[in-house]
Amino acid sequence: MAQALESIPNNVDLSGDRRLQRALEQWQPNFLSWWREVGPEGFQAHQIYLRTAVSVEPDGWATFDYVRMPEYRWGIFLAPKGGERKIGFGDNYGEPAWDEVPGEHRNALRRIIVTQADTEPASVEQQRLLGGVAPSLYDLRNIFQVNVEEGRHLWAMVYLLHRHFGRDGREEAEELLARRSGSSDKPRILNAFNEPIDDWLSFFMFAMFTDRDGKYQLSALAESGFDPLARTTRFMLTEEAHHLFVGEMGVDRVVQRTAELMAQGKDPRQNGAVPLDVIQRYLNQWFTLSLDLFGGEVSSNAADFFAAGLKGRFREDDQPEHKALSETYRLEVPENGALVAQEVPLRNAMNEVLRDEYVKDCQRAVDRWNKTLQRSGVNGLSLRLPSRRFHRGVGPCATATFDPEGRLISEADYEARKGEWLITERDRAYVKALMHPVHERGKVASWIAPPNKGINGMPVGYEYVKPPDA
Ligand SMILES: [Fe+2]
Ligand SMILES: [Fe+2]
Repeated sequence: MAQALESIPNNVDLSGDRRLQRALEQWQPNFLSWWREVGPEGFQAHQIYLRTAVSVEPDGWATFDYVRMPEYRWGIFLAPKGGERKIGFGDNYGEPAWDEVPGEHRNALRRIIVTQADTEPASVEQQRLLGGVAPSLYDLRNIFQVNVEEGRHLWAMVYLLHRHFGRDGREEAEELLARRSGSSDKPRILNAFNEPIDDWLSFFMFAMFTDRDGKYQLSALAESGFDPLARTTRFMLTEEAHHLFVGEMGVDRVVQRTAELMAQGKDPRQNGAVPLDVIQRYLNQWFTLSLDLFGGEVSSNAADFFAAGLKGRFREDDQPEHKALSETYRLEVPENGALVAQEVPLRNAMNEVLRDEYVKDCQRAVDRWNKTLQRSGVNGLSLRLPSRRFHRGVGPCATATFDPEGRLISEADYEARKGEWLITERDRAYVKALMHPVHERGKVASWIAPPNKGINGMPVGYEYVKPPDA
């Protein structure tokens, strides 16, 4: 087993820490049985054209080759230490960043790390059946790339738990392999990660909207005063960029296919593509589900995490002031059937501050999709990001009903119209019926346009996934 461990690429001097090595040696076989049990179904012996991080150097963090997924080299990397880092925000602003967990923040940090870590294996479980109905070899390879990297993110977080949280950390690491997405007795921690993802439109929406929440959470943790967490999440973000690309461009290609048919005067529904109104409902549903992952608009937890220097803002360095003590944040919340303005201390609005950045980023992607619509010759129709008040399950807006424009409406109106706005059973059945495997080189399913570029300079029609005996 020690030998197997040496094959784990890392820049954390694994071989120099006996205790840590033993802990990881015990965890590794459990990880592999987890992967075999609930990882991607049906392609474990296939050879996948994957990138592997083998070091944090510019030429080492993305090495491409054919790999069988269970043999993927899940590495442990922290972004290199850049001199003496200082805590960049909160009450301890300007003090040296911590290399070890401060006793008074131990529980909060463990909670933060476990909650983030839990999403990584959860998403692999949610997506496990999608390989069987992939729209092309290119897409098949991409989902597996995302899956193995989420597996690596789990490794990265488990390293932190084992290295810094003693026995509690080891127990948490076991629990991460014991919970299951969608299970009734041991579900994953966050709700969005218990929904099955059984069609590719949902997968692309997930990678676009839900994984993007992950980007903003990781960015906030990349500012953390707990330096090992900051450095771990920084390196994870380099991989995360690809996942978001897969989601954003996946949706873009679905939009393009639909738009091309519409521009020719053809009905997407009669031609094996996804009608624009269905795309809009998927967008509404996944965007709003993902908004909830940021937590409540007013949050004392968020204030505490900021004050303690555990979780900062997106690009904290760009903020004019790092204590956030004197400013307030203006919110509009429903109260007795009307929207009323509320001023809250900025620290209590940190979830909302992060959500602002996320919404801007999502709007940028929607603008791109609308350009694709126009370029393909569809005029006068566009996709829209719904209001962040619409269809919320968390925060003050969850106590009232809103339309996608953010107007307060009665519950009766909401119920009567929600089939226009959110995914219906009919939509789900229609999209599911489109899912057929296209596993031939260079071919692509009827409901999606081909990508305009391959992976790592390879052609679009490259054999990104080879059968076991090829
Ligand atoms: Fe991840
Ligand atoms: Fe991801």
